[in-house]
This record gives sequence, structure tokens and C-alpha cells, in this order.
Amino acid sequence: MSLTPQSVLLDREEIRGKVAEMARSIEGRHHHPDPLLVVTVLRGAVIFASDLMRELRLPLSVEFVAVESYGTSTRSSGIVNITRDVTEDLDGRHVLLVEDIVDTGLTLRYLQSHLLGKKPASLEVAVLLDKISHRQVDVTVDYTGFVIPDVFVVGYGLDYSGLYRNLPDLMILGEDVS
Ligand code: IMP
Repeated sequence: MSLTPQSVLLDREEIRGKVAEMARSIEGRHHHPDPLLVVTVLRGAVIFASDLMRELRLPLSVEFVAVESYGTSTRSSGIVNITRDVTEDLDGRHVLLVEDIVDTGLTLRYLQSHLLGKKPASLEVAVLLDKISHRQVDVTVDYTGFVIPDVFVVGYGLDYSGLYRNLPDLMILGEDVS
């Protein structure tokens, strides 16, 4: 039996509304004149970040960081490796880290401490999805889209074995019984 997307957890309209809400919260807390530096975590957060950035009515610039976390296809091991670091100098910048999902929290904790080492003026975190019941380590998340149950989800940027990132809705992965 193979694992395929089975049912919609969050449809594109719900996601669109939430992303707009998150953008308004971010704008409400950023009144400094310097542009925000949005650091998107490759690859899963690309679609969320591109929608979020287009909703944000404030000056910003764009950066990327890529991580690899080892484990099975549906469970991360917590061993995180940065495969592409930011290239801009973060010293004194106001940084918003954009991630698709927090599960155990290990990836985000690693990334936060890595970026804090680059001495930004501020570091905030926006995540679309939070599987809070599965958390292993404490992490600070400033803007959360949806708290979801402990199910494996794909679509809207999230993958299973590299597939399904292009699905416009967020779907639950399950066993294909057909
Ligand atoms: P954490 O380190 O356990 O918090 O895992 C975070 C990373 O695991 C995310 O950036 C995703 O790449 C991946 N991940 C966790 N849960 C899911 C899921 O339900 N679908 C797709 N990827 C997931």
C-alpha cells in the first residue's frame, strides 16, 4: 500500500484568509524604518512565504536558508544540517524567519540559534502550521497560522518524498486503499 493525499485539512481559501491575518499582525508590530529581512526556509516554506510577502505592506528584502533534516520520510531525526546559509549580513537587521511547520521543534530551534549567532537587531518567527502535541523542545513562535493534529500533511509547499508541494490545498497523507 502506498501513501497518498487522502483528504483536505485546510483548503486554499482558509489558508489565504489566515495568511492575510498573519500579515496584518506582522505589520502591526513593525514600525521601524528599516526594511524587514524575510528569511524563508527552503524548500517547504516557499509557497507560504511568497503568499505572505505579497500580503505584507511594508518594505522588505528576501533571503533563503536551506536545511536538511535526517530521518524517515514522515519523521525527522532532529539532526539538522544547513545546506545553504544566508548570504546577506544579518548584523543589526530585523529578521523574520518563515517556516512551513513546527513538529518536534528541533529544526526551528537549530535555525533560531544559528541566525541569532549572526547578531540581528530582532528575530521573529512565522510558521503556517504547528503540530504542538508533538513538540520535543521549546521554541518561540511569534506568528502561528494553524495548530493542527499530529497527522502528516502535504500540499501548499509541504512534501512527502519530494512530491505534492504543488497541491493548492493542505491535505492529509494516508494509505491508498484502492
Ligand atoms: P521538526 O524539526 O520536527 O519540527 O520538523 C520540522 C520539519 O519537518 C519541517 O520543516 C518539515 O520539513 C518536516 N515536517 C514535519 N511534519 C511534516 C508534515 O506533516 N508534512 C511535511 N513535512 C513535515
